[in-house]
Amino acid sequence: MPGTSSFSGSVALGSPTASSVQANVYSPTQRGTVRIAYGAQSGQLGQTTPAVAIEAGQAVELSLTGLPANTRCYYRLYFQPTGSANEAPGDEWNFHTARPAGSSFTFAIQGDSHPERLKTQFDPDLYTRTLQSVAADQPDFYVLMGDDFSVDTLDPATIDRAKVLERYTLQRPFLHTVSRQAPLFLVNGNHEQAAAYLLDGTPNNVAVWAQNARNGLYAQPAPNGFYSGNAQPVEHIGLLRNYFAWNWGDALFVVIDPYWHSPVAVDNVFGSSKPKQSLWDVTHSDAQYQWLKRTLETSNARYKFVFAHHVMGTGRGGVELAKRWEWGGESLNGVFDFLSQRPGWADPIHRLMARTGVTVFFQGHDHVWVRQKLDGVTYQTLSQPADPNYTLWNADAFASGDKYPNTGYTRVRVSPDGVQVEYVRSVLPRDETPSRAHGTTVFSYRLP
Ligand SMILES: [Fe+2]
Repeated sequence: MPGTSSFSGSVALGSPTASSVQANVYSPTQRGTVRIAYGAQSGQLGQTTPAVAIEAGQAVELSLTGLPANTRCYYRLYFQPTGSANEAPGDEWNFHTARPAGSSFTFAIQGDSHPERLKTQFDPDLYTRTLQSVAADQPDFYVLMGDDFSVDTLDPATIDRAKVLERYTLQRPFLHTVSRQAPLFLVNGNHEQAAAYLLDGTPNNVAVWAQNARNGLYAQPAPNGFYSGNAQPVEHIGLLRNYFAWNWGDALFVVIDPYWHSPVAVDNVFGSSKPKQSLWDVTHSDAQYQWLKRTLETSNARYKFVFAHHVMGTGRGGVELAKRWEWGGESLNGVFDFLSQRPGWADPIHRLMARTGVTVFFQGHDHVWVRQKLDGVTYQTLSQPADPNYTLWNADAFASGDKYPNTGYTRVRVSPDGVQVEYVRSVLPRDETPSRAHGTTVFSYRLP
């Protein structure tokens, strides 16, 4: 039943557990109070959050708690504009709480959306079409692989907190199509500049602005009874919420991040050119590595999925880079320097993933869809969701694998019988042909 609310902002769900979800509510223009009524049956929304004040341009986060596990839950946002005597309900939407082992479910993933590359790699209508397709799948959650809020094209002379925040609010109306029903998980990217090398001890730097915008507008997981992850607070930010893991159905999900843990710029430097450095200086850190090792080794999940923006956060290609640095242990000259470069680490990251039975390593960054395999681990590089050129970017960097050009998203169906990975094509109406129809599956495969 459609609602009557005049609320024109957006909702971004995040951090789902077996009994709760966070709802981040944002409007650029409206103020008043908001609350969310919810329940396990459509039309019977017997529970409610407290009503909280919302200001224009300032997100608020509501906690929906006391939910039944493994259940589709329903909710409506109630909005009372300032100056009005009445609140009014918005449309009813739904989401799913955490699934137990033995369940079947779908999740979906997008590669680098780059909305700042208007007219080159980003078409707003194409992005909308992709997100509408995603929403129609009713995925339990949606993973964004990074470079979705790129702040590094902002002018270093005039950049401020508000301009960084703008990159984060720009995505909200697009993502709303999906995020009102599927919680979002963010993977950090090289263009986000949410990175340790920019910290200067003050609250006024690009890294602090970027991470506070991420966490202020997208409810990412902090360690609790359902999620494990980064427990080390950072001054002027608090918990980063940049690496984390959780179980859903028969699968373990792990998101990792080198940008917040390298003392150097991993890829592009804000306001400057590419750094010249040894990639041994790029690291996920001892703490993140030991957490990753513990997480993978102690998991009995049938499937294990690891997500990162890219192998080592930089470079081009998939398995081509897997031999090097802390990912593979070799220096550029082919010498295995791992033991001296990473004392105390049991294995390079690739070998750790292979040894612990990681099913798929997902990455973005290369703007192309490629399926590869190495030592039993599938390396799945993901397409862009809104590239109107439908380009096979960076394909030369991949010496092997099944390669497909932009544009689209990736749907993953997980069941006790296996994992089905599907690349779903997005096409603008003007570019559709009988052999290139919007919403069709370009390529799919089954694991294990
Ligand atoms: Fe990237």
